[in-house]
Amino acid sequence: MPDARQKEKTWVALAGCKDGHALPGAFYGDPDIHQVDLEAVFLSEWLFAAPECELPEPGDYVTLQVGPAPVIILRDEAGTLRAFHNSCRHRGSRLCSAERGQASRLVCPYHQWTYDLKGALLSTRFMGEDFDPATFPLKPLHVTSIEGLIYICLAETPPDIETFRRTITPYIAPHDPRRTKIAFTSTIVEEANWKLVIENNRECYHCAGSHPELLVSLVEMALPNDERFADEFRVMERKARDWDALGLPHAPVDGGLEFRGIRLPFREGVQSMTLDGKLACKKLLADLTDPDLGSVRAFRVPNNWHHFLSEMSIHFRVLPLGPERTEVRTVWLVHEDAIEGWDYDPQRLSEVWVATNAQDRTLAEENQRGVHSPAYEPGPYSEISEFMAINFIAWYRGQLAQFLSGDETSIIRAAE
Ligand code: FES
Ligand SMILES: [Fe+2]
Repeated sequence: MPDARQKEKTWVALAGCKDGHALPGAFYGDPDIHQVDLEAVFLSEWLFAAPECELPEPGDYVTLQVGPAPVIILRDEAGTLRAFHNSCRHRGSRLCSAERGQASRLVCPYHQWTYDLKGALLSTRFMGEDFDPATFPLKPLHVTSIEGLIYICLAETPPDIETFRRTITPYIAPHDPRRTKIAFTSTIVEEANWKLVIENNRECYHCAGSHPELLVSLVEMALPNDERFADEFRVMERKARDWDALGLPHAPVDGGLEFRGIRLPFREGVQSMTLDGKLACKKLLADLTDPDLGSVRAFRVPNNWHHFLSEMSIHFRVLPLGPERTEVRTVWLVHEDAIEGWDYDPQRLSEVWVATNAQDRTLAEENQRGVHSPAYEPGPYSEISEFMAINFIAWYRGQLAQFLSGDETSIIRAAE
């Protein structure tokens, strides 16, 4: 929990922010402000954690680290998803250190206190007659699945996620992430503040200069009527008619500052985010029959974005490891019945985003180095090309202000 001095320092820094401009340098590295970030953002908001297909069977678990908090997400015997603080109720040891695994009981490696998959303490040794295991269950946290995408929240009272669920479900349900399996995963560490990583994701102003592989498929436009892209706009008009006929929603959804969703076509003749523009997997997702669906792009604050294509989906999770260190985990999903080596090649399927992530990492790290310059002054975002970065920073400032003022009215709800 940040102390009074850290909060005061953050207030002062917030007062120095200018609308439509990048943040002052302190927001990208000051450890005190980072403490406030952890509490106001990562320990308060809903976070994307993993796709459900990563833990298909009872006893399957995955772990992740949210700021100071180790977390375990598992599927219990009844198939219910549960999430707990991954910290033993004896003396606090982490229960599970593997990134993922299978267990019928959670046995603490330190003194073997043993918990069931619902978090109840089952057995201990030498704790005496008066010891009541019922008073030491694992501490749960909020968990929900949106069409197979697991979100967790460490706050006692979580903010609303139902608007996001209700709005985004019709876009992603046709791709059915529940009926998928993991084709490839990548975890990279970027030596940059988490906000630089997200800001970078929120604009494609940089794409032409950095992402040749991605631009085989992706059109830079963020809205279907972007006047900079007349040819692509005609493709969009045609595709919109096709998608209407298929009953696939595509219009941009405006989730205020909280989230965005849209289906956009790829370049003419391109079906997937591959180097040759051809499908990466022969078997399409869910019951889809048309390979030419562009991609549903979805973003939600503070830590995730997703692409749902006809034959694969790609999910990005951002977690801070420190004031200037950020983990970016990417998972590529294909139909649960797709066969590796026959339907898809993991290397071919992932190479565009592996390259793009590496390029974005360089951009974020160079950005990090530059904002340390004594000459750094926050410059203006492009309102045409960086309006989503503007929105993200507006959300972030609001989130911090709300946290620091103890105001219970969420900036997100205010924006609805
Ligand atoms: S810390 Fe877990 S059993 Fe002692
Ligand atoms: Fe990028």
